[in-house]
Amino acid sequence: MQHQYIQDFAQYAAETNITIKGWIDKVRNSKTNHFFDFRDGTGFTQCVVSIDVVGEAAFEEAKSLTLESSVSFSGKLIPNERSLGGFELQVESFEIYHIAHNFPITKEDKEHGPNFLEEHRHLWLRRRRQWAINRVRNQLIMGIHDFFQSDGFVQMDAPLMTGSACEGTTDLFETDFFGQPAYLSQSGQLYAEAMSMAMNKVYTFGPTFRSEKSNTPRHLAEFWMIEPEVAFATNETNMILIERFIKHVIQRVLDKCSEEFKLLGRDTAPLQAVVDHAFPQVAYTDAVKILNGSLDVEGRNAIALQEEDLAAAQQLIETNKADIAEREKAIKAGMKKGARKHNEKLIAKMTAAIKVAEEQIRNIPKWIESAKNFKLGEDFGSSDETVLTRVFSTPVMVYNWPSKIKAFYMKEVEGDPNYVKGVDLLAPDGFGEIIGGSERETDIDILIRKIKEHDLDQNDFEWYLDLRRFGSVPHAGFGLGLERLVRWACDIHHVRETIPFPRRYGHIKP
Ligand code: 4AD
Ligand code: MG
Repeated sequence: MQHQYIQDFAQYAAETNITIKGWIDKVRNSKTNHFFDFRDGTGFTQCVVSIDVVGEAAFEEAKSLTLESSVSFSGKLIPNERSLGGFELQVESFEIYHIAHNFPITKEDKEHGPNFLEEHRHLWLRRRRQWAINRVRNQLIMGIHDFFQSDGFVQMDAPLMTGSACEGTTDLFETDFFGQPAYLSQSGQLYAEAMSMAMNKVYTFGPTFRSEKSNTPRHLAEFWMIEPEVAFATNETNMILIERFIKHVIQRVLDKCSEEFKLLGRDTAPLQAVVDHAFPQVAYTDAVKILNGSLDVEGRNAIALQEEDLAAAQQLIETNKADIAEREKAIKAGMKKGARKHNEKLIAKMTAAIKVAEEQIRNIPKWIESAKNFKLGEDFGSSDETVLTRVFSTPVMVYNWPSKIKAFYMKEVEGDPNYVKGVDLLAPDGFGEIIGGSERETDIDILIRKIKEHDLDQNDFEWYLDLRRFGSVPHAGFGLGLERLVRWACDIHHVRETIPFPRRYGHIKP
C-alpha cells in the first residue's frame, strides 16, 4: 500500500488522510489516549491513539506498542505547532509489524555512558542525535562532490590495498596479499598524483586506514578522506582551493541542515562566520610565535586569552553555584509543579556548565605550559592547536612546515631545505587539524634523497618517480578527513559519533 513520509507533512492540508510507517520513539499512556513519538526515518512526529476514535479493543491493542516497536499508523493530520512540519497524526487505524523486546537504550545518552552506547552502536544509531549527525554527514558528502564536480574535477578511486607507504611506516595495517606483504591504504594521494597527470583535476573519496594506537576524541583507525590533486598548482593556489572548498560545504549544511543543527543544539553563528570571513594564512614560524605569546593577532594574545578563559571559568563556577543554591532553597520551600520543573531544568543546565568549566580549569594551565615551552621545529599537539586557533574566529591555514615532521613528498621551500611547502587547515574552537596538504616535490634527486631519509625502499616508489620522468609539472593537493569535518560542523566532542560504525583503537564491534 502507498504510504507517506513525515518529511512531506508541510505539503499537506489539515485533515488529510495519510499512512506512515516507522518506529515508536517514546510512549506516554493515559486512560483515554496513547501518545507516541514516532520516527519514520525522514523525521519525527507525534501520533495520538484515542479511545474515542479507535474504540476500546484497538486502544487496548495499541497499549502493547513498546519503545522501538514497528508499526503503520493511518489517520488524519491535525495542526500542532510544536510538531515538526506543523502536524501530528490522529490515528484511526494501525497495523503492528513487530512488538520490540525491551530496548536497551532508554535513558539520556550521558546516563548510559559512551562505552555502553558504542557497544550498542547498531541501536544507538536510531536516536535523534545520531539521526541528525548522519544527515549532516550526508549533506557534507553531497556538498563535497558538488563542489568538485562543478569545478571540473574528475572523481577517481584509489586502491585500498597498497604495496608502499604514503604517510610513513609507523601506522600501517599490514595484510597478506597472496604471500606478499601489503598494507591498507593510509592515503590515495600518490595514486591521485599519477591520475592528475592524465586528467589534471582529480579527487579521491574513500576509506583510509591508520593503525595509530591513539585513543583520542579525533583519531579513528578507519576514516574517509577526500583528496583533490591539481596539475600546475602551487601551495598558494592550493590554499585558495581549500578556502573555497570549505566555505562551499559549510554553506551547504547551513542551507540544508537547520533542523538537524537545532536538534544538536549547534550554534550556527560560528559556521556563518566561516563562510563570511577570509581564512588567515600564517607561516609555521609565525604560528609558533603566536602560540608562545610573542606575536599578537589584531591585538589578541594567545596566552592572555587562555588566562582570560581560565578566569572566566572560575567566575562561572562561582556564579552558577550561588544561583543553584538559591534555586534549590526556593524549591525546598515549596513551589508549583511547573515552576519547579523549570527551575530543575535550569539547575541541570548550570551543573553541566560547571562540569565544562571544571574541565577547563584542569586543562588550561597545562595548555599554557605546553604553548609557552613549544620548541621551533616540533609538531603542534592537540592543545597547541586549540591555543593557537583561539585567536582566530575562522579556520586558519598554517603553511611552510619543518621538513622533519612532514611526509617525504612535500616540496622543499626554495633555498631552505629545512622547510617544506605543506599546509594544514586548523578549525577553530579546539577542533584543530581537519586538512593536511602540500605542493609536491618535482625534483627527482631531492625525492630520492627524501625517500632514503624516511627509511623507505626506493624500489617501492619507482612507479611514483616515473611521474617525475615523464612530463613532470608542479602540482599540489590536500586531504580532508571527513569525520573531522563532521565533528566540527556538528560541534561534537568525540569522533565516534561522526561515522556509522567507528573503527578506532580498541573498538572493532559492532
Ligand atoms: O595530514 P594527513 O596525514 O595527510 C595525508 O594523508 C595527505 N596524503 C593528504 C594529501 O595531501 N592528499 O591526513 C589528512 C587528513 C587530516 O588532516 C585529518 O583530517 C584526517 O586526514 N586524518 C584523520 N582523521 C581521523 N582519524 C585519523 N587517525 C586521521 N588521520 C588523519
Ligand atoms: Mg596531517
